[in-house]
Amino acid sequence: MNHSIYLIGFMGSGKSTIGQEIARLLKCSWIDLDCYIEETQQMPIKDLFKQYGEPYFRDLECAALEALSNRKNSIVSTGGGIIVTPKNAVFLKSQKTFYLKWEFETLFNRISQDQSRPLARSYEEVMHLYQSREMLYEAASWKVILGEGKSVEAIAKEIINSLEGVYENSSY
Ligand code: S3P
Repeated sequence: MNHSIYLIGFMGSGKSTIGQEIARLLKCSWIDLDCYIEETQQMPIKDLFKQYGEPYFRDLECAALEALSNRKNSIVSTGGGIIVTPKNAVFLKSQKTFYLKWEFETLFNRISQDQSRPLARSYEEVMHLYQSREMLYEAASWKVILGEGKSVEAIAKEIINSLEGVYENSSY
């Protein structure tokens, strides 16, 4: 694979879990943008938000995506807000980017107990965030993958199958 696969979607959409599964099946490397930021900054995302604010985190996120943009043969799991920075959305649109789409209730149930996510707040706030981002995910993606009722392995295989033949006769 002479390119990378990018996974986008709201918090709780399984970007990391599914990314790891794709990497396992394709025997290629997997990288999580949030982990990369935490490692390079030596600080949890929650603390970066708390100490420096969201705009600061968005700048780090944009720089991290750019730093990893030349990687090949990798699966890149992004953070849920990656698409709010227009530069990121433009880059992702030029790549093989998959939007992992789920119903809001499914996502909220997954993230509501998670203390490590600074933006997982009340039902109304998270709903507002979800609604404001849905179109951005769709616009930045190459393909939308509907997750409801499917296993992690099934979603990973659907993504891999959708790429079959895409790169034949191409310089990608
Ligand atoms: C965020 C999602 C998080 C993380 C940060 C901001 C967001 O990643 O990047 O807390 O704005 O939706 P996950 O989608 O992996 O939770």
